[in-house]
Amino acid sequence: MKIEQLTVNIGAQVDGVQLSSIDESTFEAIQEGLWKHQVLVFRDQKLSREEHLSFGRRFGELHKHPALVGKREHPEELIIKNRGKSKTVTEVWHSDVSCDPRPPSLSILRAVEVPEFGGDTLWASQYAAFESLSSGLRQFLSPLKALHENYDMSSAHPVVRVHPETGRQALYVNGGFTKHFEGMTHNESEPLLNYLVQTGSALDISMRHRWRQNDVVIWDNRCVMHFAVHDYGDAPREMRRVTVRGEVPR
Ligand code: SIN
Repeated sequence: MKIEQLTVNIGAQVDGVQLSSIDESTFEAIQEGLWKHQVLVFRDQKLSREEHLSFGRRFGELHKHPALVGKREHPEELIIKNRGKSKTVTEVWHSDVSCDPRPPSLSILRAVEVPEFGGDTLWASQYAAFESLSSGLRQFLSPLKALHENYDMSSAHPVVRVHPETGRQALYVNGGFTKHFEGMTHNESEPLLNYLVQTGSALDISMRHRWRQNDVVIWDNRCVMHFAVHDYGDAPREMRRVTVRGEVPR
């Protein structure tokens, strides 16, 4: 297995493995790579739905998407298809389902069908975002919580969370789910939230992936935000996402 770092702050490409058949030591090396690089790209993976789910389960219990529970036989697998730009909900900097009291730790996305052009995804390191702030702002943010809302769920999470595996601090607000700081109004919160999401999505702390069919990308929602660019018109694009249930953010 070869791991090639993609940028100074985030991302690596892993070659020489098939995720459908990896032994324990390779799995541990993948985990180590993920804790270090936050996003891992695997090309040319032939994963069936069952293999995708099984690979996810190696990291822990799977997360059931709240919009699918009671509606789909497999609420652990989210199918993301092109339904037009006006209906997309992923073209915003976000961390998956952060409104959940125990939001997904990891997301594992596989490309089933990709458009001829466009449809890239970007990820940004929220370790690097936090580290880029002044010590004054870091101190101000550290005791705060923010409300994350959607799917009839509302959870107050720390604005700065400590990653349970690495012990590093990451900014944990996003443009998709975070509505306001606890104890503050929407209007009071908005300017600072906008500033944090803007700072947290700066290009020099981000990576951008051009998808090929059968790519698999794994990311750590506890320390990255991501953004799916809808620049492919009506062309078909189909992704399948499996997420791992995370812990209560601390
Ligand atoms: C997502 O936001 O989880 C999906 C990203 C993508 O479709 O590229």
